[in-house]
Amino acid sequence: MSTAKLILEGNEYEFPLVRGSEGEVGIDTVALRKHTNAISLDPGYGSTGSCLSGITFIDGEKGILRYRGYDIEKLATESSFVEVCYLLIYGELPTQEELLSFSDRLTRHTLIHEDMKKFFEGFPATAHPMAMLSAMVSSLSAYYPGAGIDEDLDLNIVRLLAKVKTVAAFSYKKSIGQPFIYPRNKYSYCANFLHMMFAVPAEDYVPPKVLIDALNLLLVLHADHEQNCSTSTVRMVGSSQTNLYASISAGISALWGPLHGGANQKVIEQLKMIREDGSNFRKYVDLAKDKSSPFRLMGFGHRVYKNFDPRARILKKTADEVLDQLGVDDPLLDIAKQLEEVALVDDYFVSRKLYPNVDFYSGIIYRAMGIPTNMFTVMFALGRMPGWIAHWKEMREEPRGRINRPRQIYTGPTQREIKPLEER
Ligand code: ACO
Repeated sequence: MSTAKLILEGNEYEFPLVRGSEGEVGIDTVALRKHTNAISLDPGYGSTGSCLSGITFIDGEKGILRYRGYDIEKLATESSFVEVCYLLIYGELPTQEELLSFSDRLTRHTLIHEDMKKFFEGFPATAHPMAMLSAMVSSLSAYYPGAGIDEDLDLNIVRLLAKVKTVAAFSYKKSIGQPFIYPRNKYSYCANFLHMMFAVPAEDYVPPKVLIDALNLLLVLHADHEQNCSTSTVRMVGSSQTNLYASISAGISALWGPLHGGANQKVIEQLKMIREDGSNFRKYVDLAKDKSSPFRLMGFGHRVYKNFDPRARILKKTADEVLDQLGVDDPLLDIAKQLEEVALVDDYFVSRKLYPNVDFYSGIIYRAMGIPTNMFTVMFALGRMPGWIAHWKEMREEPRGRINRPRQIYTGPTQREIKPLEER
């Protein structure tokens, strides 16, 4: 069977089927409106494929996540974040030579233009680092105006990956009133970020291996997740041929919301609230089930995963290991585990297939690493950078690419006359 039939108001139409390499089936409805004058309506896009993509595969029922065919569990233990960046963006794991050259370029482009430092002065001390990050990434297009031009694409990809961690670390230093710490070329990608975050001019700081490894793992696990809200936003914005920096800045804004990447900050805030309320986690599980209350268990549920989120499984184990190695005893980890235990046997969560997602345990690890809560979503953005770039690039290289422009079913008033002001 290679077509799907639609009977609409007595007329029959046929549409071709599209099959993915993992057997996924889509109905190609590009010609639906042309042939039928009707559109498909799918608020939230739960049943809508927006593109063909060769980057990331997810099977939400089986809890599978693969980047370019490689299982996330394998990449998490065997690859560095820089290798994963290369894999996602260029389609293959780098050779030794390619990795050396790519890492070297990432190191050499880490500085931001000195003038950009002045931007930080304009933000209030209380500014959320996500506000600074999205503004700064968009501002990079003012310094590198060739970011929409194909010949310069590789250079701008390297610039973005390299500079974003400097911007992120500077936004943290700004928020605590400390001087910016410049990158050091002798450090790896993750070590350099930790150095810019935690070094102070008065002291020597050598990023500890346990932090470098934990950061590497967290970034790898967040690196891509196919057509989620922020990635779809990057593609949407990029489809009008907006430059790379501005498109990614839009993705950063989309990530910020608490239903998406902002959930990692909310999880910790919620766990703290539960702790301050006497660790009565059952009360909060009941509140999350109460349909008259808007309360939700943050870090639970996922649009695609209906079994478990493989990233959450890895992070739960890592949280134990990292806290152990750092000698940190965080009561929030115990509350998180108890909350999970109660929720996973509760019929409300079981019947709706609500499991912990990537955000549930990541914040506990960030906390143990000394990263403040309002930086958690920035950390997510650092990790997601190669995924956004890979999707932007894939979209731009699609020869039949069109501007993204959904339609709607209008439900407002039909045509009417404007009454004179005194009669309204
Ligand atoms: N707590 C309590 N109930 C929930 C939760 C939750 N965290 N998540 C979903 N539900 C319930 C809904 O109320 C709904 O119940 P109903 O069928 O009785 O109406 C049902 O489960 C389905 O939920 P939807 O909101 O329709 O699922 P959707 O796929 O639209 O949303 C989302 C997914 C946004 C992740 C949702 O589960 C949620 O809000 N979770 C909390 C926020 C969160 O952790 N976000 C991070 C997601 S992962 C990421 O972006 C990196």
